[in-house]
Amino acid sequence: MDTMIHDITEITGMALRNTKVAFDLFPSALSGFILQDGKKDKIGIHSAHSIFYDWKYDNMGNTEFMNLYQKAKKGQWDADDLPWSTNVDPYNSEIPILPDKLLPIYGTKYYDKLTTQEKTKLVHSLTSILISQFLHGEQGALYAAGMTVEATPWLGAKFYGATQVMDEGRHVEVFHRYVNTKLNKLYEVNDNLYVIIHALTSTKDWDLKFLGMQIMIEGLALGSFGLIYKFTKEPLLKQLLKQVISDEARHVHYGVESLRDYYTKEVSDSLRRDREDWAYEVAVLLRNRFMFLEFHQEFFAHAFSTESWKRMILQSEVMKEFRRSLFTRLIPNLKAIGLLSNRMRTKYEQLGVLKYENEKAADTISLNELLAA
Ligand SMILES: [Fe+2]
Ligand SMILES: [Fe+2]
Repeated sequence: MDTMIHDITEITGMALRNTKVAFDLFPSALSGFILQDGKKDKIGIHSAHSIFYDWKYDNMGNTEFMNLYQKAKKGQWDADDLPWSTNVDPYNSEIPILPDKLLPIYGTKYYDKLTTQEKTKLVHSLTSILISQFLHGEQGALYAAGMTVEATPWLGAKFYGATQVMDEGRHVEVFHRYVNTKLNKLYEVNDNLYVIIHALTSTKDWDLKFLGMQIMIEGLALGSFGLIYKFTKEPLLKQLLKQVISDEARHVHYGVESLRDYYTKEVSDSLRRDREDWAYEVAVLLRNRFMFLEFHQEFFAHAFSTESWKRMILQSEVMKEFRRSLFTRLIPNLKAIGLLSNRMRTKYEQLGVLKYENEKAADTISLNELLAA
């Protein structure tokens, strides 16, 4: 057993230090890190969950589910109404899609040596990496939303979840359209993101599907959407992100409402501890997907070894701030669902992200506050 666990932590690299979580995630880590299934063009992932039927229709669940359902019906929008005729030119430094300061090498001597044209090329690739990963995450969200409609026991949650399926379909549509018609560059799904998507797809436990998608992936996505929204000067992307953020705010709120009572009132202490550890390890995996190894391979493999690239990214002040900003939405939501015990606070403190614990959680924050962050 010891040897096996040693191997699992080897496979999952620096992230999975908790052996129980490493063991649970082993099939997903094997599929993503070793078999490289995420790099295949098409893949089927088996899900072990049961579909919950209720012929009495008398268990609506938390009253907030129907409020969110009403809001979601009123909040629908048509992707065709976005200003798609906008001329997006990734090489026009007058209207930058993203500023140079988000480049992983910004502030180093390598950045200083680049010409303006080389810098715009890197910004184009950085944008394509980020939007491609958003797109892949949205595809995962589309299927996760479908699974939560099936697996939840509450009719109110099933109604609401049906609107989320529509929302996520629209998000796949808009990010794909942006990648395909404006950036013309699609990157493969990041290994770490694939592993989490595999884990939450394959599990039989409904709460892990919610925790993995609605709280972890969508919580971190809200942080990164907000960051890109703040920095982009490109009007189509800005409008697109504003619309997507308005939907995602509801999704994360729904995740909080679904899990709060379950984790704080219904589960045993030992199961809650397991979920705390799972959430922490997944958070670190998700954070580590922003090492921009795609960028290293494409442009800097001749200049840096993978290890020295990782060291540079870990030490870069810009990248530190970027990674931390991802946690502004996640930490308060983990607290709201009861997964930020003192034991975990110490761990998040070591990641430098506990400072966000008193930010507003998804059930109280407004869209304007999300966009102004
Ligand atoms: Fe989404
Ligand atoms: Fe979502």
